[in-house]
Amino acid sequence: MITTERLCLRRARMDDLEDLHRVFSHPAAMRYWDSLPYEDIEQTRRLLTGMVAASETESDDFVVEYQERAIGKAGCWRMGEIGFILHPDYWGLGLAHEALSAVIPHVFGALPVDCLEADVDPRNDASLKLLAKLGFRETGRAERTLQVGDEWCDSVYLALPRP
Ligand SMILES: CC(C)(COP(=O)(O)OP(=O)(O)OC[C@H]1O[C@@H](n2cnc3c(N)ncnc32)[C@H](O)[C@@H]1OP(=O)(O)O)[C@@H](O)C(=O)NCCC(=O)NCCS
Repeated sequence: MITTERLCLRRARMDDLEDLHRVFSHPAAMRYWDSLPYEDIEQTRRLLTGMVAASETESDDFVVEYQERAIGKAGCWRMGEIGFILHPDYWGLGLAHEALSAVIPHVFGALPVDCLEADVDPRNDASLKLLAKLGFRETGRAERTLQVGDEWCDSVYLALPRP
């Protein structure tokens, strides 16, 4: 577990299901995710089951807890790839930056990766700004990398080398 000024970053638990479903069913939070908003809580249960079962040698992923609610997640689900999502009620408060500033050094300590990578939709201004502020730099771009629903999305690739 990691504590920051305002947050508790901890491993996922099955009783996070309802709070996390509020995040993963929210259209604004899921706008640039790799799937449509979850309509069925069973989709969130599958995600959460995977998080709870994740091997600590390949994954270093955290539920973001704020004011005793699970408001999102941040970390490395798969080796080297950083991911994050917060419920929109908590956007704009600097919480994602606070969470990732603590999570990133933890990931470098926990996983044998040379750099952290991110794959972001070029329209996802909030994530691009956040990653730039954390020191990530663009390494490339590609078009039509992912189809979500009826829409094809592009990718900006970013990386942060191990310090
Ligand atoms: C990305 C996300 C986690 C940012 O959360 P947040 O807590 O609002 O971010 P912060 O408040 O820590 O802001 C970090 C920086 O990004 C900037 N930022 C935040 N939202 C922004 C927006 N909509 N447009 C432009 N910049 C934005 C902030 O201004 C801040 O920079 P500053 O300190 O220089 O002003 C949140 O928008 C989110 O959950 N998005 C949906 C999930 C997602 O797309 N995840 C990434 C998939 S690759």
